[in-house]
Amino acid sequence: MSRWAWAGIDLDAVRHNVGVLRRAAGDAQVWAVVKANGYGHGALDVGRAALDAGAAGLCVALVDEGVALRDGGITAPILVLSQQPDDDVARAVRHQLAMTVYSGAGVAALERAGAREHPVHLKVDTGMRRVGATAGAVAEVARRIDDSPAARLVGLCTHLAVADEPDDPRTATQLDAFDAVVSDLAAAGLRPPLIHAANSAGTLAHPRARHTMVRAGIAVYGISPGPGVDHLAGELRPVMSLVARVSWVKRVEPGDGISYGLRHTFDRPTTVATVPIGYADGVPRRLFHGGGQVLIGGRRRPIVGVVTMDQLMVDCADDPVTIGDEVVLLGRQGTERVTATEWADRLGTIAYEITCGISPRIPRIPRLPLDRV
Ligand SMILES: Cc1ncc(COP(=O)(O)O)c(C=O)c1O
Repeated sequence: MSRWAWAGIDLDAVRHNVGVLRRAAGDAQVWAVVKANGYGHGALDVGRAALDAGAAGLCVALVDEGVALRDGGITAPILVLSQQPDDDVARAVRHQLAMTVYSGAGVAALERAGAREHPVHLKVDTGMRRVGATAGAVAEVARRIDDSPAARLVGLCTHLAVADEPDDPRTATQLDAFDAVVSDLAAAGLRPPLIHAANSAGTLAHPRARHTMVRAGIAVYGISPGPGVDHLAGELRPVMSLVARVSWVKRVEPGDGISYGLRHTFDRPTTVATVPIGYADGVPRRLFHGGGQVLIGGRRRPIVGVVTMDQLMVDCADDPVTIGDEVVLLGRQGTERVTATEWADRLGTIAYEITCGISPRIPRIPRLPLDRV
């Protein structure tokens, strides 16, 4: 190990989670969303494992991300989830990346790129208000795609804004609007085989959203999309663990302060371990203020002082801690477990931001989880 901090990536858990999603999705195809380097887990390894477990395709945000998967040898269908700058479209075509399109300009870009019957998914904005053709414009864009020799309409999709809050009636409003578009296009003779609205929460909590395909991201990584669907996410297994080794140990005295700003002062003699991982690795500086804890020797121990760029400190009380001891920042040690959702709750964010934030400086080690090695 080149450094004493790494992320363990449990590819068995990816396969298991895709199995859970496939069961939830019924007849619908499961496509695994591996944008942002697989939500920080490593897109290529996760993508391969997901396909291995029966995912029908992969979704990315950027053409670069799709090209990296192709360069890694993935031949399965890959969908780029939003319309892309013109300059990137020719690369998408060359690498057979299906494109999401929602305007005539999106079709024109494919034509300029010399595409022939390139697979296109038409995105409808039913309420997320991020990207997509409005319900009023969708028929015209669909016709434009259908008329173009550059494009072949293979999918029709939308994105749900509040699927992780199953009681929110606005999901039904979005799905009603989407159903209306699906039937209007069918009436006009346009029936793309892949109809999709569901993200992970949609897959787990909204049977109506499943249609013929779902796009699942966070659940592939073993994380519940949100507290409102925790009861449906119990079978998922977290994929990422974040582990380091103690690099320095010292005793401190009452009245000693620690770390930048000396914001924490000890009120008793105690043993402090230094751990060589910091905010440049994706452990947020403010995790200290949020009461962040790590696991050492199977026990929860508090981070003391602000997290610095490359190192953080932990109050180990009178435990016999030594240099080289394993520190679990995310994952399981003994009977204790720290999750990305716990960090997110402490920091006022969502687990997505936590795993995406684990920086490239941390080596990803595809491996069995700590409690199984
Ligand atoms: C268009 C689109 N579909 C699907 C997903 C997957 O969402 P989730 O990770 O909640 O399953 C995302 C993620 O942000 C997305 O942007």
